[in-house]
Amino acid sequence: MNHNEDLEKIEIELLLQGLYSWCGYDFRNYAYSSLKRRIWHRVHAENLTSITGLLEKILHDPACLKRLVSDFSINVTEMFRNPTFFHHFRENVVPILRTYPSVRIWHAGCATGEEVYSMAILLHEEGVYEKTKIYATDINPDVLKTAKAGVYSLENMRKYTNNYIRSGGKNAFSDYYIAKDNGVKFHSYLTKNVIFAQHNLVTDSSFNEFHVIFCRNVLIYFNKSLQRKVQDLFYESLGMFGILGLGETETIDYTNKEDCYEMIAPGQKLYRKVK
Ligand SMILES: C[S@@+](CC[C@H](N)C(=O)[O-])C[C@H]1O[C@@H](n2cnc3c(N)ncnc32)[C@H](O)[C@@H]1O
Repeated sequence: MNHNEDLEKIEIELLLQGLYSWCGYDFRNYAYSSLKRRIWHRVHAENLTSITGLLEKILHDPACLKRLVSDFSINVTEMFRNPTFFHHFRENVVPILRTYPSVRIWHAGCATGEEVYSMAILLHEEGVYEKTKIYATDINPDVLKTAKAGVYSLENMRKYTNNYIRSGGKNAFSDYYIAKDNGVKFHSYLTKNVIFAQHNLVTDSSFNEFHVIFCRNVLIYFNKSLQRKVQDLFYESLGMFGILGLGETETIDYTNKEDCYEMIAPGQKLYRKVK
């Protein structure tokens, strides 16, 4: 490591420590290279010249602090993201859920809610929604507001419709929303069994026992030790034979819990807790 990189690392550590001490947001174990990119983006966007300058600004300007936290929470999502994953969930997991008197599902890191509406639609079509309670959580309160409102841009609907069909959807996707202004609003019956709440996977603890936990495309932003810590939280929060769904590029392998799960369908990031 050269002198500049050393200095940059020290400044980043101070920034993250300052953020944590000041407002309790703990990004210290997020993946370094992605954090570094986002920090420099914020330094330039604030017309600053150094990371230390950004530290000073977040400590004295609450709006800047909010902007930095928002930079760290990457909210890219879509409906029926990775359609074959949802197809396998429908084929292999729903039959198990049917046998339970009631079902509890946790979407950890739900972003603006597209994944949650996808799940509600799927369960509705399979006749399981009525007995299900969905807990949809995220660190970022702003994205939860969008998730609750269920209003999305019209321009994504072609892609989402395509994903829905590929995931094994049984109806017309347009049955689930109405046009509103320049967007669409999903029907409120899809969220009548959903609780949206702020929850931080790094600092908050387990809050229920679940039959299914989805945490997709969140762990990629964490370093290995934080991934292990969050896998412990999921293990603790899943009942025996509970299902864990991860993102396409994420895996249970190389965590201290890999022996506790078996894969449900080859190649799919759907695991069942077996011990
Ligand atoms: C890329 S989105 C994933 C959305 C959805 N699960 C999907 O796969 O499409 C990642 C989400 O994780 C949330 N997140 C990041 N760190 C978190 C944390 N410590 N606790 C809870 N949510 C977190 C972000 O705010 C963001 O909304």
